[in-house]
Amino acid sequence: MEQTAILELKNNKDFYIGKDVLVGGWVKNFRESKATSFLEISDGSTFKPLQIVIQKEGNNKIDSITLGQALQLGVAVLVHGVVVSAYNNADDAEINATKIEIIGHCAADYPIQKKKTSLDFLRTIPHLRVRTNTFTAMLRVRNALSMAIHDFFQSNNFLYVHTPIITGGDAEGAGEAFQVTAPDFQGDFFGAPASLTVSGQLEAEEAAMALGRVYTFGPTFRAENSNTTRHVAEFWMVEAEAAFMNLDAIMDNATAMIKHIINYVLQHCPAEMAFFDSFYEKGLVAKLQTVAANAFVRVGYAEAIDILQKSGKEFKYPVSWGVDLQTEHERYLTDEYFKKPVFVVNYPSGVKAFYMKQNADGRTVAATDLLVPGIGEIIGCSERETDYDKLVSVMQARGMNLANYEHYLALRKYGSVTHSGYGLGLERMLMYLTGITNIRDVQLHPRAVGELR
Ligand code: 4AD
Repeated sequence: MEQTAILELKNNKDFYIGKDVLVGGWVKNFRESKATSFLEISDGSTFKPLQIVIQKEGNNKIDSITLGQALQLGVAVLVHGVVVSAYNNADDAEINATKIEIIGHCAADYPIQKKKTSLDFLRTIPHLRVRTNTFTAMLRVRNALSMAIHDFFQSNNFLYVHTPIITGGDAEGAGEAFQVTAPDFQGDFFGAPASLTVSGQLEAEEAAMALGRVYTFGPTFRAENSNTTRHVAEFWMVEAEAAFMNLDAIMDNATAMIKHIINYVLQHCPAEMAFFDSFYEKGLVAKLQTVAANAFVRVGYAEAIDILQKSGKEFKYPVSWGVDLQTEHERYLTDEYFKKPVFVVNYPSGVKAFYMKQNADGRTVAATDLLVPGIGEIIGCSERETDYDKLVSVMQARGMNLANYEHYLALRKYGSVTHSGYGLGLERMLMYLTGITNIRDVQLHPRAVGELR
């Protein structure tokens, strides 16, 4: 008999009622009463497991050795049985088992047990934590989030471009790139210093000067020595780049993207989002619905500094015009003052990357960060400097090696136009969507300072 996916069976319950089926999966839960045992199995096709009802007496009795082996978490089973309406939910299906085969035994030291296991402990077993409800739900939302991103850009005429992972320059100019070549690169593979990309932006700008609207979506690497719950050394970034858009236009686009993502995930992952609402952040779904339905705040950097100074809060990092906003400042603005997503606009040039458009005031750049409650920054965004001479002088003032940016600078010589872009950290967005508070718990195998499991 052919195996039926649990998703197929649940989605077409009326068709399957009364039919004999074969399903497979791993035991997620079990309980016993006097005459009956209950197994919950999952084959990964749905978040919610399928209940298997096993009679201990009568015609459909399963032999006691098999039953004993089946009533263990992590065991892989094949179940033959008849589909019936679930006892406690007429919309759901369950199976009255006629035969159970154990196809994969699970050793007694299986670390995923019924009692809630801490996320700290689960981080030590990345190869197994993926089997928990938290991680299957997270990965299902991560999948929907990725699809939502493509869906948004494709329906807004952005083309997906793949920018290189190995690069010769540091896009952010922050010196946080991982080396690919040996320190003495002369005889090495590329014959030039090479590193893992910190951002695909510079290459995306090249593509935008031909294709108009593009986005990249791929892994990004940063040798940032920040051991926080929001930083990892390897993360995924979505970067949009659009010709003929100024800062206002790109902020509108970023807002529409975030709202689209939220609506898409709520629509495609209702069970997973209900799980996160119950176990990670009460009111999460309602919060996201409100965010998707309302305008985001836009506040000037100078005004944000003013708000922070008047907050009466004792910040660890003192606030004055010119400082970069620290997490504690971002969190005050989003969590306590505005209580919603906030774009902070026009940062001092000194705290931002070299490529941002210099404003007429001579001291700020047309840049914005989108900050959200509970997390802080999730998007870095700016209009790009298109004036060759201004760009060169900023780069020189920062001691950058212009030879490494020859291609980037050339774009300013050949038909340069106003253009803007942004980068959204996929993992930070996923934290915002799920209520998971440590970025290491929204990836399969997190890579961070001192962590390479
Ligand atoms: O603000 P960032 O550094 O911006 C850029 O890289 C630009 N080139 C983007 C662009 O304009 N095309 O990074 C963008 C986002 C951050 O807002 C954050 O969400 C995420 O990437 N991010 C990280 N996520 C996890 N771990 C880290 N170490 C991160 N660094 C940045």
